[in-house]
Amino acid sequence: MGAPGSGKGTQIQMMLNEGYKQISTGDILRNEVNSGSDLGKHLKEIMDSGKLVSDDLVIKVIENIFNNLESKKGILLDGFPRTINQAKKLDELLKKHNINIDAVIEINTPDKIIIDRISGRFVCVNCGATYHKTAKKTVEKGICDLCKGTKFKTRADDTEKVVKNRLNTYHKEANSIIKYYKEKGLYKKVDGSSGIPENTDKQVRDILKRL
Ligand code: AP5
Ligand code: MG
Repeated sequence: MGAPGSGKGTQIQMMLNEGYKQISTGDILRNEVNSGSDLGKHLKEIMDSGKLVSDDLVIKVIENIFNNLESKKGILLDGFPRTINQAKKLDELLKKHNINIDAVIEINTPDKIIIDRISGRFVCVNCGATYHKTAKKTVEKGICDLCKGTKFKTRADDTEKVVKNRLNTYHKEANSIIKYYKEKGLYKKVDGSSGIPENTDKQVRDILKRL
């Protein structure tokens, strides 16, 4: 977990070659928006305003994925759960599928850094991989590291006004989720404020090694 722009997607991207399965509710919802479906149009309105999509809808999406899971190494959940209701529903789902949570890692990045950072973000149109114009460029100019795509775009919810709304939404919900996982002994925090994603990656890997 972590505020919008704290680096969740970036950190997961750095671990994907190790066989984990990534489940990012933001990416899944954006795919639905891009499909142009009626549901996608409804989602776009909510997401572009910085509010959360309803728990019912997001939980349905997650349920579907868990019913078709194939990952021997493990799952990295990005942006879910985002409300206490989602956290409790996730516990039920995990129990049903006989899976345990190893750790809940929050990337702690101050809001001011986030607002600066998000203005430099661009994503691959084909696979959604995330880059930054100075801190995380593609290895080869104009070519996505992951899928070799050559088209990039910015996200519709990355304007300063919407980012501020997304930050407010996050801070409203986060404390109760953190408390919930602290009580279960699962909560860990890493520092996401360094301008170098590899520094945060090292902290995440240290946590995983100690599990
Ligand atoms: P979602 O897609 O999850 O967005 P978010 O939480 O707002 O987070 P971001 O994806 O914007 O940021 P990130 O933490 O992944 O940062 P990134 O690695 O890209 O959700 C979008 C919307 O979908 C929500 O607003 C909501 O409407 C809906 N939604 C999603 N899940 C939901 C749920 N469970 N329930 C209800 N609604 C839901 O990094 C940001 C930038 O910084 C990049 O350019 C990156 O290259 C750069 N960067 C990263 N780390 C560093 C670093 N250390 N130094 C310098 N630059 C860095
Ligand atoms: Mg993300």
